[in-house]
Order: sequence, then C-alpha cells, then structure tokens
Amino acid sequence: MSSPPRKLWLAPSLLSADFAALGSAVRAAETGGADALHLDVMDGHFVPNISFGPAVVAAVRRVTKLPLDIHLMISRPLRYVETFRKAGGDTLVFHVESDDPPQEVARAIRASGAAVGAAIRPDTGFDVVRPLLSELDEILVMSVHPGFSGQTFIPEVLPKVRAAREALDASGSLALVSIDGGVTATTAVDAARAGATFFVCGNSVYNSTGVAENLSRLRAAVESGARHGIP
Ligand code: DX5
Ligand code: ZN
Repeated sequence: MSSPPRKLWLAPSLLSADFAALGSAVRAAETGGADALHLDVMDGHFVPNISFGPAVVAAVRRVTKLPLDIHLMISRPLRYVETFRKAGGDTLVFHVESDDPPQEVARAIRASGAAVGAAIRPDTGFDVVRPLLSELDEILVMSVHPGFSGQTFIPEVLPKVRAAREALDASGSLALVSIDGGVTATTAVDAARAGATFFVCGNSVYNSTGVAENLSRLRAAVESGARHGIP
C-alpha cells in the first residue's frame, strides 16, 4: 500500500515584498493559496545584510492566521528565542553555524512552545544536523548564500535535501525539509524530486506578475516534482 502524499508547503518570503505595503503582500499570499509565510531576520553580523526584527514579525502576526516560519540569520539566536516567540513565530529556524550550541538553541525553542527548525548554509554538510534530528520539526537547506533574495539557486545542495529526507524517513520523523533560495517554478521541481516539502519563495512570488498566478505555477511545479521523486 502506498502512503498518502506528503503535504507540500508554499511559503512566500516577505523579504521580496514591498515593505511599504506589507499588509497587502500578506493578504495577497493568503488569498493566493500560500500555506505559511517565511520571515527573514538578519542581524548584519551573521549575514552582511540587515532586514527586520520582532516588531515587524508582530505586525505581520496581527494581520494573518498563516503559520509564520521565522528564519533567524543571527549570530546569537539563544538571546532572541523568547522575543520572536512572543512576537508570534510558529516555527523558529536557527542556523547551526551560529555562535550558540545547536542543542541548546533547539531545546530553548522547544521550551518556548514554538516548532524547531535548523538551517544549514550551502557550504555546511548535512552531518552537522544529524545529531539534532530527533529534536527538529524542520530542516532548512539553503540553496543560496544567506543574506539576500533574488539570487540563483545552487543545485549542488540537492543531495543534502535527499540526505535529509532519507534520514528523517528512516527515523520515522515527520519533520519538514525546506529549501530556501532561488526557488522558481523550474528549480522547485528538482527540490521536490529530491524530497523537499516546504518551499520558500521570495522573488518568484513577489517580483513578477501576480502573486496568485505565481503561487499556482509554483504549486503545479512542486506537485509534479513530488510525483516523480522520493515516494
Ligand atoms: C535569503 C533568505 C531567503 C530569501 C529567498 O537569505 O533566506 O528566504 O528571501 O528569496 P528568493 O526566493 O528570491 O531567493
Ligand atoms: Zn529565508
């Protein structure tokens, strides 16, 4: 008997939206069929760019019921777990390359009541995440170097997506495998084939034609990739 298809999540990244009209960007994602929203927090230290902090997360929280996936590209995630949880984050995704011990960050996130995500940069091996697997609800594989939207997808990370999927399946974990960076209707097919189930889409949602149209194109892409990928 084959298992039911896994849920495929489309998560528009607000980093690519018009910050002067964030409310409309959130509504467009919601009415266009997004499953979650991805919010990129950057401290100018872990990554060269600075984006936004808890006040913006809280503002978005007030206008949507969509799950908020908070991507913490910050050097000291431990200090901010409570803050981003209180601001309304449903999942807090920290980088294993940050300055804080990954086990401690994962436990602090769990204790806050949020779901736990761990992210890896393109040049970080999957083995760094392995010891954490049983503590995770999401593994986020970065397919660009973190810091900016609108970069080109790095296909060399796809074996890591596959490794994550296989390791999670082998351990019976239902954690999501996310892909973040340069996800388009073309690259999403490959990521879905490799076993990704959560697709962060910045430019491909907000920077061309209509949001709803972009989301349906991405939906078709991930569904077709998943049909031909890991069962
Ligand atoms: C990059 C961020 C991404 C970014 C994705 O550091 O983590 O979430 O917003 O944007 P696109 O989809 O345009 O690469
Ligand atoms: Zn991100």
